[in-house]
Amino acid sequence: MRRTTNGHYFTRFPGNQRKVGPGIVLLVPVILAGCDGRQSVLSPSGADARVLGDLFWVMLIGAIVLWLLVNGLFFYVTRINRAAMSRRFANRLIVVGGVVFPTLVLGALLTYGLSIMPDQRAPGEGLTLRVTGEQWWWRVEYWPEGADAPIVAANEIRLPAGQRSEIVLGSARVIHSFWIPALGGKMDMFPGRETRMSLLPETPGTWRGQCAEFCGASHALMAFEVVAMPSEDFSEWLEAQATPAASPTTGAGARGARIFAREGCGACHTVRGTSARGAVGPDLTHVGGRLSLGAGTLDTTLADFETWVAHTGAVKPEVEMPGYDHLSATELSDLAQYLKGLE
Ligand code: CUA
Repeated sequence: MRRTTNGHYFTRFPGNQRKVGPGIVLLVPVILAGCDGRQSVLSPSGADARVLGDLFWVMLIGAIVLWLLVNGLFFYVTRINRAAMSRRFANRLIVVGGVVFPTLVLGALLTYGLSIMPDQRAPGEGLTLRVTGEQWWWRVEYWPEGADAPIVAANEIRLPAGQRSEIVLGSARVIHSFWIPALGGKMDMFPGRETRMSLLPETPGTWRGQCAEFCGASHALMAFEVVAMPSEDFSEWLEAQATPAASPTTGAGARGARIFAREGCGACHTVRGTSARGAVGPDLTHVGGRLSLGAGTLDTTLADFETWVAHTGAVKPEVEMPGYDHLSATELSDLAQYLKGLE
């Protein structure tokens, strides 16, 4: 989906797709090498993703070697040496090549695979996150060790780097799947059932996560930013998240707050410290400080806030939040100022 200069959206559908030739297939590794790694299993930044990445390469190289062996043998007996072999030799070839060899190779690969099973089921070291899949966004609750109430956020996951954090997963209505390719394997999220995983980002960084289970019209637009921070920065950030919303500091922001109240936004959204206490949509207490809007769909510039509020359905098909396109340009701008100010 691309944005036109007047702020409207259009979707490009693939037109006449040409057949993919072998040349293109050979180019795939080159194209993959160009990925920036923000959402790639091939550039792991977490302990678990590293294990999975190693397993992938071992299996891939193993498969290529076996493919070459089998096809080389096939080529040899059909093109190079077509002399008939004795029945005894043929029988032996079947037993050794068809039973013994695959058993040894698959046994070795299975042993290797089991021995490096990632620690994604290991318990966390203090921090627990509870992430709930909604349509189509992520409810995120941080439970620091010993806390009796969560710090609520949305559509962004922040983790302390160098520390394993536990993530408890659930879903409101349909099955989603929580996946941060650069940090670890994926895990399904079910309504009425808890699943768990833990992740250990090795270094500070920013990556992208994506829902990996088809969950409706905007499944592909259900993404999130993942930020691993040095542990002191993370504690500071979490403390800030726990505070109530900042009061508007500009005239436009104050007008925006009044529009927010007048339009009934508080029926669905919470802005802690104000009368907005809705729990249907994402908590907006610190929405202005997030890295994306609409669950990884837009940036968080003032223009993005305006686009989102006025044209929700065009940005994210079938989203529950109605578009507020009846607001005037000035009202939208004031509302955007207010929301952006909620840092
Ligand atoms: Cu949620 Cu796909």
